[in-house]
Amino acid sequence: MDEAESLRLEGYDLAHIVHPQWHAADHAGAVVYASGQGAVLTDVRGNSYIDGRSSLWNVAVGHGRRELAEAAAEQMSTLAFANAYTGYANVPSIRLTEKLLGLVYPNMSGVFYANSGSEANDFAIKAARYFWFLQAKPEKVKVISRTEAYHGGTLAATAITGMAPFHKGFGPEPPGFVQVPTCYPYRCEACGGGPCTPECADVVARAIEREGAETVAAVIAEPVHGAGGVIPPCGGYWPRLRAICDKYGVLLIADEVITGFGRTGKWFALEHWGVVPDMVTFAKAITSAYVPLSGFIMSERVHQVIRDNPADAKFMLGCTNSAHPTACAVGLRNLRIIEDEGLVERAERMGRRLQEGLGRLREMPNVGNVRGLGLMAAVEVVSDKATKAPFAVSAGVGPKLAKAMRERGVITRVKGESLLLAPPLIITEEQIDTIVNVTGDAIEAVMKAVAAAEGTNAP
Ligand SMILES: Cc1ncc(COP(=O)(O)O)c(C=O)c1O
Repeated sequence: MDEAESLRLEGYDLAHIVHPQWHAADHAGAVVYASGQGAVLTDVRGNSYIDGRSSLWNVAVGHGRRELAEAAAEQMSTLAFANAYTGYANVPSIRLTEKLLGLVYPNMSGVFYANSGSEANDFAIKAARYFWFLQAKPEKVKVISRTEAYHGGTLAATAITGMAPFHKGFGPEPPGFVQVPTCYPYRCEACGGGPCTPECADVVARAIEREGAETVAAVIAEPVHGAGGVIPPCGGYWPRLRAICDKYGVLLIADEVITGFGRTGKWFALEHWGVVPDMVTFAKAITSAYVPLSGFIMSERVHQVIRDNPADAKFMLGCTNSAHPTACAVGLRNLRIIEDEGLVERAERMGRRLQEGLGRLREMPNVGNVRGLGLMAAVEVVSDKATKAPFAVSAGVGPKLAKAMRERGVITRVKGESLLLAPPLIITEEQIDTIVNVTGDAIEAVMKAVAAAEGTNAP
């Protein structure tokens, strides 16, 4: 594309598209992507970047997969779309469901399809309430979630999201949503800012008691916090959370919108801790984002109640594109790629290389914490290594880090001053090593610039 046309497109974009998380100053100099191949993205000016966060944690099998384009084209030319409301069905959605139920937790039995992770979470919450309603417990409606969680942008998904900026200016929020603190690197009542312990899950138990178990429908949590800063729990956390939900008669919803389909080195992340949830929400990597598809999977127990509902209380939940044939055909092909190419095992192997490589950056003077699981990781930059005190927001360290990574050919995002990394599952060893080296170089360069601005010696 010539320079004049790329300038025109950039200008038109800035003038007319309201992007997610919009702020004009943040959008200045935006990268306009033109193409992608494997783990590499190229912009309209011909610059190439390693896609360090699988775009939005979703392009699991990498860019430019002809098999997915062909699956879409074949389905579109056979039956692009058809109504899948009660009374109608289509072949790709049935085949995909068969595949999904063979891969997910063994207690799972039913699937409801939607378009986005936000919708999947909203719908799972409605399903949890409906489950209790049908069992003559209509007062069990509250949902407990955790601070630093990200669950989406629709109203209920925002209400369960635990990051303050996502709430500003959008109130009032619907009632019935309760948040409990996340532990390290944040601060819950149990660990007080120390490493996560199984007892950190007791914070949820106390919230259930406070609210009254008879009013609580569900607890929802990401197995590993994603956008909140890639925060893996300790080994005992999820088994204890499961036991708490069982003790108080509350459904446990695992938001696996990021962790589903191999990201952590298991098909679904709670396999790491031998836990099965009552519902799983999914999106992103189900189609590697080639087309939108999401949904929630329910256990046999939940499914049975919904499946056998009475005629006077039908499950009136729906969206036009539920079980979209083209999306399901692409999803099915994508899952076959993950299976055939052993990408879950690869995520485990490449993940180990990523975690070990990034782990070596702990030696750096301003690296406070490196954490992660499989192919999701965070490197936290701090102003004081001993106390882990952060930089003042005005120092702009987070945005500077993202920019420095981009200038060195790796696209990723930050949460606060933590660099978040989650490359595609097809990432190569060489690309992992490049990501690690670039991360170290970017941190060093930003720290030098910050020290220079403060008039102190560079560390
Ligand atoms: C864990 C989690 N849940 C839900 C969502 C919302 O998904 P979507 O943006 O597709 O609505 C996201 C998005 O990043 C997410 O990370």
